[in-house]
Amino acid sequence: MKDKFGREIDYMRISVTEQCNYRCFYCMSQEENIELKKENPITKNEILEIVKVGVKLGIKKIRITGGEPLIRKDIDKILYEISKIKEIKELCLTTNGSILNEKIEFLKICGVTRINVSLDSLKEKKFKEITKTGDFNKVWKGIKRAMENGIEVRINSVIIDGVNEDEIINLASLTETYPIDVRFIELMPIGEGKRYKGFTGNDIRKIICKSKKLKNLKRKEGASEYYKLEGGKGKIGFINPISNCFCRECNRIRVTSKGIMKQCLNKKSTFKLSNIMKNSINEKEKIEIIAKEIYNKPEKHLFNNINKFEDKYNMNQIGG
Ligand code: 5AD
Ligand code: SF4
Repeated sequence: MKDKFGREIDYMRISVTEQCNYRCFYCMSQEENIELKKENPITKNEILEIVKVGVKLGIKKIRITGGEPLIRKDIDKILYEISKIKEIKELCLTTNGSILNEKIEFLKICGVTRINVSLDSLKEKKFKEITKTGDFNKVWKGIKRAMENGIEVRINSVIIDGVNEDEIINLASLTETYPIDVRFIELMPIGEGKRYKGFTGNDIRKIICKSKKLKNLKRKEGASEYYKLEGGKGKIGFINPISNCFCRECNRIRVTSKGIMKQCLNKKSTFKLSNIMKNSINEKEKIEIIAKEIYNKPEKHLFNNINKFEDKYNMNQIGG
């Protein structure tokens, strides 16, 4: 369906858990989080119902995200059941890659064709500093197995001042060696992320251009603008929500692990989809209520302004 700005909304991102086995400093609170432990996320059946209603409103692509989606106990069943809904043409996953290696076979069975792996460092020690509990070698093993098994891999990296700018070239160079895309995502002022300064896509591009030949493919795919290194097997993407907002082409809505539908990453919401599903009203009425919410998706995020509608949550709670 179209929203009131004429954007075709066909992409739903569903966060299946706030929990994560990593503790990336710019994404999650570092303290032991009791709230998080008590998490009571949307159930598998609620997720399936939400997807089915979404399909009736024109949703064709689903991304499962978190926290870390693969640590949810029934993730296998969730993916499998969604993969059986024929109107869903693309089923994707965003993961930190920590247990990817063990899940590859299952992802293949579920028809997961593409995964996004968050990876901000290729150095064991730095990777641990960023994630606290992460093991780079395990993640890398998972990425390699995914590639060997024909799953398309995209690496998502956030470059933060004083943390990992020295890895820009090495991350970009992965696209020379492997048929994978590396996408640099600008740090957004969300939750913990507000406390740090991120590199803009332009900063990163300039650094790459100092030592490499970077060709603009003049191709936009979703939120990403794509480039390629000379002789590269994969592409380099820039996702610049801050310096070059792509809200005009935004085609997505989000569902948090608490079952709340978010029209925009940056807008507070109390629209509890899972409650609407439980309502005794008929399906047509449910669809109408949800359609109205999608229709009223805001024109753009207000990250660069003082925003009284802003969410207070961390990224792991909203869905990265
Ligand atoms: N800005 C941009 N990306 C973020 N992520 C977490 N916090 C932020 C932020 N403030 C990303 C992680 C990972 C995914 C879960 O969300 O890098 O790719
Ligand atoms: Fe977990 Fe991803 Fe957040 Fe890191 S960025 S803490 S891996 S959800």
